[in-house]
Amino acid sequence: MKILAIETSCDETAVTILEATGDEQSAEFTVLGNALISQIDIHREFGGVYPAVAKREHAKNLVPILHESLAEAGLLIPKQQTVSDEDMMSIRTVLEREPELADAFVAFLAQYDVPSIDAIAVTQGPGLAPALWVGVNFARVLATHWQKPLVGVNHMEGHLLSALSSPSPTNERAFSMQPISLPLLGLLISGGHTEIVCMDSWLSYRLMGATKDDAVGEAYDKVARMLGLLYPGGPEVSRLAEQARARGSSGALTLPRPMLHDGSHDFSFSGLKTAVLYHTKGRTLTETEKEDISLSFEDAVADVLRAKTLSALEATNAQTLTLGGGVSANSNIRRVFTDAVAEKHPEVSLHLPEFRFTTDNAIMIGIAGFYHARAGRFISPEALSADGNLSLT
Ligand code: KG4
Ligand code: ZN
Repeated sequence: MKILAIETSCDETAVTILEATGDEQSAEFTVLGNALISQIDIHREFGGVYPAVAKREHAKNLVPILHESLAEAGLLIPKQQTVSDEDMMSIRTVLEREPELADAFVAFLAQYDVPSIDAIAVTQGPGLAPALWVGVNFARVLATHWQKPLVGVNHMEGHLLSALSSPSPTNERAFSMQPISLPLLGLLISGGHTEIVCMDSWLSYRLMGATKDDAVGEAYDKVARMLGLLYPGGPEVSRLAEQARARGSSGALTLPRPMLHDGSHDFSFSGLKTAVLYHTKGRTLTETEKEDISLSFEDAVADVLRAKTLSALEATNAQTLTLGGGVSANSNIRRVFTDAVAEKHPEVSLHLPEFRFTTDNAIMIGIAGFYHARAGRFISPEALSADGNLSLT
């Protein structure tokens, strides 16, 4: 099955053409085309992602990205016949909500033939609603105009499932799913989410716990701002903390581990962030101090994530553990989880995502889209809507 996957939930515009075969325990994937534009340099100027700016950039980038991805896959075939006026009218009607997208899109559809793909998958949520809507409307028009089945994908499920893949040793475009035993526990940590979900049966999720306030990535980004670091701050805080570790430092601050012993699988990070603020406000920090504060913050975060996840593993008897989302790129968290599973639960198989799947991308949307398409979970273009708060459970 060839899937065209679209991702616009936050600040990356991405389109992938993924070829997929097999079933859930043995799926094989080949990336035929993959194009992505990151808006990070634009958002860095504002110190964060503004939804209206993200939406405008997606609208500008989607058609060129689609063009590039199809061309790479060898699926961009110039049209022999022209599009009827009636077709053009219907495309324009769907695109009324995306005027920035309309002209380039209509021109593209008039110029190129229907590509030989089997389904279209698009991120439906969660994320920034205006950004999600551009991608969803784009996919709705494609599905209608090309007469292709459509799948709405949960972005976090993309992060979770892509963590189960392993790259092919012989083909850099290919990867396969590793066979897993259920239940599977997923720790999803990103800029907007911090949750532990349990997959009891394939693609069916139960929420074990979630943050009561800030997401981990959000706490990282806010601490980064307190230390005068650029957006997105997570990787920067991580870099400073690694420098402190390399010096053998044990950190500068004694920080709280919120909700560590409350018996739940929920999290809270706003108190931790405030504790860092208390120590940094109004002070001029040296590089060494910044490194030590980053280290103390990282240790507190990792302690809480580790304790809550181990407790959820015990509560569910999960056989498989995955990490997903932007923060799962963090070296310290990866190390802490590798050690914790080896030490406490050697029977559990831990799957850490490849780095390319920790940042937002359309390949993971194609992976999740494939499984839902296999299960026949299609949706009509009229019924598909974006949902900024879409839940996995
Ligand atoms: O999944 P993602 O790309 O976007 C959302 O769906 O939110 O996650 C982005 C978040 C940001 O908060 C960013 O600072 C954080 O992931 N992040 C990191 C690292 N890389 C990205 N946080 C800590 N350490 C990292 N290495
Ligand atoms: Zn993400």
